[in-house]
Amino acid sequence: MILVLGASGYVGQAFSQELRRRRLAFIPLTRKAIDYTNLELLFDYVRKVKPEFIINAAGYPANPNVDACEQAREETLFANTLLPQTIARVCLMTNTPWGHVSSGSIYQGAKVVESEGTRIERDMNRPEFRRLLAEHPERICGFTEWNEPNFSFRHPPCNFYCGTKALAEEMIRGVGRSYIWRPKMLFDERREPRNFLWKIQNYAKVYRCVNSVTHLGDFVKACLNLWEQQAPFGIYNVVNPGPVTSRQIVAMIQRILKPDRPFEFWKNDEEFYQAQARAPRSNCILDASKLLAAGVPMRPATDALADALQKWQTPPPMANGGVWTRLVPVKA
Ligand SMILES: NC(=O)c1ccc[n+]([C@@H]2O[C@H](COP(=O)([O-])OP(=O)(O)OC[C@H]3O[C@@H](n4cnc5c(N)ncnc54)[C@H](OP(=O)(O)O)[C@@H]3O)[C@@H](O)[C@H]2O)c1
Repeated sequence: MILVLGASGYVGQAFSQELRRRRLAFIPLTRKAIDYTNLELLFDYVRKVKPEFIINAAGYPANPNVDACEQAREETLFANTLLPQTIARVCLMTNTPWGHVSSGSIYQGAKVVESEGTRIERDMNRPEFRRLLAEHPERICGFTEWNEPNFSFRHPPCNFYCGTKALAEEMIRGVGRSYIWRPKMLFDERREPRNFLWKIQNYAKVYRCVNSVTHLGDFVKACLNLWEQQAPFGIYNVVNPGPVTSRQIVAMIQRILKPDRPFEFWKNDEEFYQAQARAPRSNCILDASKLLAAGVPMRPATDALADALQKWQTPPPMANGGVWTRLVPVKA
């Protein structure tokens, strides 16, 4: 039996759905049923039910964006750093293997291959970098699991959310039998405020950036495959390979969904940070080679995005026969 913590959340629900599809027995645990953030309660519960694997999909997400975590530092630190540490201790004491949903947002930028070696470019909006990405994509590499996070409390600047996610990795890495799974910019085909494809369609203006992205369904499948295939424990970047720009994503939305609205972009970082954002955002490219080498396939990012948009779900008709009005723009 598998235990899913944070089962009521966006990621936790996707794990539950995939476990159901695989006909694997699981308990979707919520804090309402048992306060699993309490070490003694979790320890007693795990000793009693003896799960063969625990999935930690609980956390304080950047919802609707990382600025929210700046306002809720205590909750963010508790759910994103202290809770994984509690789970790690319980799993170590009970010798239970487990997987933790971390985040790829603990990096900033990408690696650039030069004749004299590799350098890190933190600012992927620099025109020179954009030109290189367009003309010589083979010279742009993502961060691997062996690269130390460079968007963390140890390597500022970072935002509070990413700092707590990086700190959690540092605390649980190598403790017991554990996976650390790193998704980046999760998306799927649902009109759901956590879905990056939904967010980008509802921003007042879109921020120009380059990123790795992860399809939510692909993510939970890949995480479970690692465990089912008994891949070595450790950290895995779980992204759909290939960097994508927000411009590319908007172009796909326009081509596939044909929305009846124009998309506006922030002119530059200065305008974006002055008008919209408080805390620095992470934009980065992650290398998925370790995951692929473990025998876990992932579709290219552009294929996964196109597929999600083709399956984009329209809202159910309103009971009163009314019409859906445009949603309030969300902050990037
Ligand atoms: N969504 C994304 O785009 C994204 C991207 C990268 C990484 N992640 C990571 O994925 C994990 C899950 O994110 P999500 O988007 O699924 O978030 P979510 O929808 O808010 O779900 C998180 C769940 O965590 C549980 N939880 C435990 N302690 C909590 C606390 N102190 N405050 C709030 N919730 C608490 C809650 O479940 P119960 O109340 O049922 O116990 C909650 O439903 C987080 O660690 C997040 O950092 C998410």
